[in-house]
Amino acid sequence: MATVGLGVPEQDVARVRESGVSPRIALVLGSGFAGLSAMVETPQVIPYCELAGTPRVDAVAGHAGALVFGTLAGIQVMVFSGRFHQYQCLTAYDVSWPARMAASAGCADLVVTNAAGGVNESLAPGDIILLSDQMNLTGDSPLIGWPGPEGGTPFVSMRDAFDPELRGIALRAAGEVGVAIKPEGVYAGLLGPAYETPAEVEMLRRLGADVVGMSTVHEVIAARALGLRVLGFSLVTNVAAGVGLSHEEVLEAGRAAADDLTRLMLAILPRS
Ligand code: HPA
Repeated sequence: MATVGLGVPEQDVARVRESGVSPRIALVLGSGFAGLSAMVETPQVIPYCELAGTPRVDAVAGHAGALVFGTLAGIQVMVFSGRFHQYQCLTAYDVSWPARMAASAGCADLVVTNAAGGVNESLAPGDIILLSDQMNLTGDSPLIGWPGPEGGTPFVSMRDAFDPELRGIALRAAGEVGVAIKPEGVYAGLLGPAYETPAEVEMLRRLGADVVGMSTVHEVIAARALGLRVLGFSLVTNVAAGVGLSHEEVLEAGRAAADDLTRLMLAILPRS
């Protein structure tokens, strides 16, 4: 299969080009954030299964699994509605596909969103965190094997992985539209799919994590290796290791915060 580098087949990039959209910003929507893809104007939807380069897995409940091109708040975007996780029997490299696809399509920025458990005891379900840093605790990296045909160095700096300028824009936009967000937080990315034990949550707290989840970190690492600016948000859907924690609880909290997240994102995009 001919690729354009980055492990993205030429035919997938051609489909983006044929759409007539030149996306500047890519958004990856985590559990419960899918509503944002419905806001895309003049949308062109490509189910993931129609793209040759997507990792091959069964969809997880709550993930729509489609790439949506179009305009959001006047900005040409590509929206990844649904993402990939290592617990789906995938490698870190596989799950970094949205970042590689976004770079191949010419995007300059990647916005990652996720549902996460609150590790910091001051956090409550419904809180939106502007990510300031991350911990990759999966024991794997999307850059293992780089440089391959992609070129470039795998020894990428992860300082300021979440772009300080974009974070400033996001904070100001949140203030202007009146959406309360926590201005910083550290995301710990674990393999899952089991939720954490109380002992593991205590460990994460001592390590300095504020939220925990099973995604995002590989997309961010790959995006930085490809020179994309990254902005990240976590929605706290539950207290980590909380009583009665279930996937349904996580999805429900996502639905409840959908309005705020949509307003926030629509305010950030034109300012970025
Ligand atoms: N742990 C890990 N991943 C998650 C959680 C959690 O508590 N909530 C949502 N995603």
